[in-house]
Amino acid sequence: MRDADPKPVRLTDYRPPDWLVDTVDLDVRLHPSVTTVIARLGMRPNPLGRHGSPIVLDGDELELKSITLNGTPLGGSAYAATPSSLTILAPPQAAVTLQIETVLDPSANTKLMGLYRSSGTYCTQCEAEGFRRITYFPDRPDVLAVYTTRIEAERDEAPVLLGNGNPVERGDVEGTTRHYAVWHDPWPKPCYLFALVGGRLDGISEPFVTATGKPVELGIYVEPGKADRASYAMDALKRSMRWDEEAFGCEYDLDVFNIVAVADFNMGAMENKGLNVFNDKYVLASPETATDTDYANIEAIIAHEYFHNWTGNRITCRDWFQLCLKEGLTVFRDQEFSSDQRSRPVKRIGDVRLLKSHQFAEDAGPLAHPVRPSTYREINNFYTATVYEKGAEVVRMLKTLLGEEGFRSGMDLYFDRHDGQAATVEDFLTCFSETNSVDLSQFALWYAQSGTPQVEVSGHWDADARSYRLDIRQTLPPTPGQPDKHAMLFPLALGLVGPDGKDMPLNPDDGTNTAGTVLLVSKPEQSFLFRDVPERPVPSINRGFSAPVKLNANLGTEDLTFLARHDSDPFNRFEAGQTLALHHLVSASGQSREGIRIDDPTALVEAMDASLNDASLDPAFVAQVLSVPSEGEVGREIGTDVDPDAIHAARRTLRHTLGEALRPTLERVYVQHAPTGTYSPDAISAGRRSLRNASLDLLACTGGEADIARALTHFETADNMTDRFFALSVLAHNAPDVREAALTAFHERFKDDPLVVDKWLALQAQIAEPGALDRVRELTRHPAFSMGNPNRVRALIGNFATANQTQFHRLDGAGHTFVADAVLELDSRNPQVAARLLGAFKSWRSLEPVRRASAERNLKRVADKRDLSPDVADIVARSLG
Ligand code: ARG
Ligand code: ZN
Repeated sequence: MRDADPKPVRLTDYRPPDWLVDTVDLDVRLHPSVTTVIARLGMRPNPLGRHGSPIVLDGDELELKSITLNGTPLGGSAYAATPSSLTILAPPQAAVTLQIETVLDPSANTKLMGLYRSSGTYCTQCEAEGFRRITYFPDRPDVLAVYTTRIEAERDEAPVLLGNGNPVERGDVEGTTRHYAVWHDPWPKPCYLFALVGGRLDGISEPFVTATGKPVELGIYVEPGKADRASYAMDALKRSMRWDEEAFGCEYDLDVFNIVAVADFNMGAMENKGLNVFNDKYVLASPETATDTDYANIEAIIAHEYFHNWTGNRITCRDWFQLCLKEGLTVFRDQEFSSDQRSRPVKRIGDVRLLKSHQFAEDAGPLAHPVRPSTYREINNFYTATVYEKGAEVVRMLKTLLGEEGFRSGMDLYFDRHDGQAATVEDFLTCFSETNSVDLSQFALWYAQSGTPQVEVSGHWDADARSYRLDIRQTLPPTPGQPDKHAMLFPLALGLVGPDGKDMPLNPDDGTNTAGTVLLVSKPEQSFLFRDVPERPVPSINRGFSAPVKLNANLGTEDLTFLARHDSDPFNRFEAGQTLALHHLVSASGQSREGIRIDDPTALVEAMDASLNDASLDPAFVAQVLSVPSEGEVGREIGTDVDPDAIHAARRTLRHTLGEALRPTLERVYVQHAPTGTYSPDAISAGRRSLRNASLDLLACTGGEADIARALTHFETADNMTDRFFALSVLAHNAPDVREAALTAFHERFKDDPLVVDKWLALQAQIAEPGALDRVRELTRHPAFSMGNPNRVRALIGNFATANQTQFHRLDGAGHTFVADAVLELDSRNPQVAARLLGAFKSWRSLEPVRRASAERNLKRVADKRDLSPDVADIVARSLG
């Protein structure tokens, strides 16, 4: 067991390792309950470490069998071993070979960290600190070694044996029913990138030739019988590989690249060198079982993990505080890939929606932390929206500030200078300041200061002087551990839209700090002056969401409506409509305190109608325009004493109003975008479906008989999962009378497919009605549900807690109690999944007093439980802190 209240790790305490590992030779003899691991480590003292130090290795639930140093068995007084560490007390201060034999039980590993079994398949997850559950090792990312792995197993049980790097040898173990495979990875890597897989798997394979003509064999392995569902992932992989060569000059560097899909996985996927392991949700797809969103996620995550080969693997992190160095950068890269493969503006809208719903919520509550935290108790709790999504925004701002070429020169230098190293955020930024001759010290605050900057903008047109002035004020609210902040440096992309709806030329006054159409904001208060502005413009600020800030541009209904119709920047055109809707929802939920009120939604209706009738617009974009801000976003806008029921009611009423008011247009759009030909997951076809479905949805929100009948027909005649599942959700949320029959029919059809059953569970968890909690409780006893499978838990309980605000935050506290109970039950089985679920309480302080009290009571109940995992202990302590 690990200590439940471990000392916090601090960035400022970093010291280089005392011992280095050059080579790792592993011999892993797989067995369901007694797997033997023999590790031969070629080690030497680190010239940069403390001379004369013992060799201290990490472990976690390990059982030591034997140990030799330079071939000689070590006596009991020469070392100290516990399940969580192994110390060689007085090693010679020279290169040594340490051989350690341990045993572990993969079947008992319910944490899904280290070596475990998923539906009978042996697989591993080592990031962040799972390798120490396989063998004793200096488990830190700045120890890089060359690995050779021999994997041995029963031939029947595990005909497929995969490791990192290239295959070198395989054969039978003579006189037994066992066989083995040897893999060698020539690229030095930290142990968190180690992986092995053994199992009865089907696979598909395809050849790839790199830019310089090197052949690579690509493989995707899945559960038997599912190979036909891996072809989209394979296609996405090949496109990713080509894209990284073209966009970043990054070429693949091994003879093989394998992906394995497993059913039990804590996260999305893992970038192990040459052997990515995936949650099967992000590999398996067919038109009958996967939605357009699933296809887009598969494409993005396949790309993400592949891109880690350079940003993460060839250049890794010095320590876990630098996690954003690989994650933020790699998310930025996968976003750019998807933008190039699909519609860039629609991708940007989706990414910003995700940022606002997850990251802004995190930044506004007790779990707020910097993109690069300075302290942690449990690193697994920092695989967050802040590190990933805000981390990507910081890289995006860097690119906006430096321009395409300036950004690329810094990236080129980074790849060149730090290849083979474990680097830091400072190393990364230095590459950009050197190639661009700029000082990035103020910009670096984005890595250190948590919280979402609030930016107030007001514009003043001077008719006589024919000039326009923008006054900008930035503030950064206090966050845990950071009461006072410094002003940030960020790019604010700007357009001044003239009365004709066209952008006016921008003539910045001398001394106004701009780069083209981008304002460089760096002071708490700053004004920007523009000359030759003959007419009053409407300012379009933060175009493309150039900075991840909460903007208040002080625009009234008229100006917002104007931007929603005319802004040449698609993101801000979308955003103007969202702001209109947000203002309306805040006042309609009866909770507006100050600021702009929009009681009458007519302007919003007209703006939406205009977009629906504009044939030049991408249907996928129009679908986004039709979707009003989430309940969570409205709650954050309100800020304190939030009543989720009032928000839900306001949103429901608004959607009803929109459905009625836009009826003729929506009906026409629905018919116009009827499917032509067979299903294809491409962005254009998906965009047509999304607009047609958004129309179906708004119409059904009215509850009209014909509208429900339309949804039912849509459900029954669908030939793909996107349409079928969308219609099912429309029915589940809007048609209590047909809901049960439709849910039953859907389950009957797909009951043998766990990933589709997850959709069925998730949908029921999201029904915003008082019966939802009983239904969810009942479903936890359904044979399809299991507390042991993270996907099932997230689908049912996770969605209840994060996507059903009124029922999770029930006034009687029963929703909170249920989720807290689930966290406690899960904690002994899988702490990572439990801790993540507990994160659903993160906005509890902004609730009105009754709900706030119930959340606090339940958090305290969790905190009081004995023997909490470090994961849950950390989240609950920070939530209450
Ligand atoms: N590096 C993985 C990714 O690409 C995430 C793995 C995190 N796993 C964990 N148990 N913390 O995003
Ligand atoms: Zn990643």
